[in-house]
Amino acid sequence: MNEFISNHLRLILFAGIAVLIILIMAIIKPSDHGAPYDEYFAGLNKELKARGPGRPSLVLDLDRLDSNIAQIKEIIKPPMGFRLVVKSLPSAKLIRYIQSSMGSDRLMVFHGPDLKILGKSGLGNMDMLFGKPMPINAARDFYNSLRPDWNLAPSKRVQWLIDSPGRLEQYLALAREKGLLMRINIEIDVGLHRGGITRMDELDRMLKLIAANPKNLAFSGFMGYDAHVASAPAILSSKKAAIDSAFRAMYNRYSEFYAYGKKAHPELFGDGLCFNSGGSQTYRLYRDEKPINDLAIGSCIVKPTDFDTGLLASHIPALFIATPVLKRIEGTTIPFLEKFSGLMSRFDPNKQNTYFIYGGGWMARFASPEGLEGNALYGFSTNQAIVNGSNRTALGADDMVFLRPTQSEVIMREFGDLLIVRGGRVIDRWPVFEE
Ligand SMILES: Cc1ncc(COP(=O)(O)O)c(C=O)c1O
Repeated sequence: MNEFISNHLRLILFAGIAVLIILIMAIIKPSDHGAPYDEYFAGLNKELKARGPGRPSLVLDLDRLDSNIAQIKEIIKPPMGFRLVVKSLPSAKLIRYIQSSMGSDRLMVFHGPDLKILGKSGLGNMDMLFGKPMPINAARDFYNSLRPDWNLAPSKRVQWLIDSPGRLEQYLALAREKGLLMRINIEIDVGLHRGGITRMDELDRMLKLIAANPKNLAFSGFMGYDAHVASAPAILSSKKAAIDSAFRAMYNRYSEFYAYGKKAHPELFGDGLCFNSGGSQTYRLYRDEKPINDLAIGSCIVKPTDFDTGLLASHIPALFIATPVLKRIEGTTIPFLEKFSGLMSRFDPNKQNTYFIYGGGWMARFASPEGLEGNALYGFSTNQAIVNGSNRTALGADDMVFLRPTQSEVIMREFGDLLIVRGGRVIDRWPVFEE
């Protein structure tokens, strides 16, 4: 009798454990995230299968880009000026296209060699403000390699960004040595704390040095980058209130530098100076924030995923990596775990297919078809990356996997010519900066 009860209890215990396991599995079992291409990507896929280069490439959709530009135009109106951030869109044809749509001749440059490329591409007649301070050797290298056919007159066109009295002295020494006039824009810290001057006595020393050396140095304005404003933490307030308050604090600090400088050195604060701020993350906050008269913008024109923010909700992604599927394999089979391959795709529908794509490992997120994912168990490859997707993703060899870059600046230099799309068709190929 006793044995009967204990067997019975054991059975109930096993059954209980089995039910518990089934319940847990049911709870943690992933749902099917897959979906086929939407109409837009189905069209792009067809076009690229017919006319694409058969390797990973960057697709730039001009219709989408135009829509983003139109939104910027709505906000940036004179006396506020638009300045294009070259590092975020490093292609001479693209820069020319945006500048002519925006009616702008202002660029922000972050890399010495880019200045040369701009000169060689016939863009040397634009006003170029450096977005970061250049080591003195970079400035020297620029002057040493400057060629007359670049049509780039640095004493009129280049604003060197200077972040400290010490660096200004280095620039003065170079200007004297070479008999140059250098335009000096002073970097001020308005809350980002990425450098730039923080005190009025530093500003005073720098303005004095500029005023005392009019043959070699010309004051051209301030640059106070405000990217921190967009990530203001909402602790006891709404996100909007937190951003508004950070924006006001940034603006007040900017105005303090301006008021101090103008009072101490009115002779330097004439017309035509450049008081720069802003960026993709914050440009939509600006209305009439005098003296700020210049906003530098780049990334939000193509909207990589780092720019999926509330403030930029109306911008649309315009830049995609498109890469062909090389192989489609049913299920997911991992070396040494072959026995579990059926189980894996039964448990997780997103493992119903394995696609090996051309390339991989980019700073990017899967965009279309929906629900694609990498496979950490299999590993990472920049040559033929593994991608998993459910049957609903329905890709075959030669179909495209589309990804959105997380940011544009490095990615745009990695794929060769941009494939320019208009009305869903590839209409051109635009080279990107090579260096
Ligand atoms: C000084 C400065 N201004 C503006 C920007 C804005 O560039 P983007 O619009 O591409 O974010 C940046 C970005 O790094 C920057 O460093």
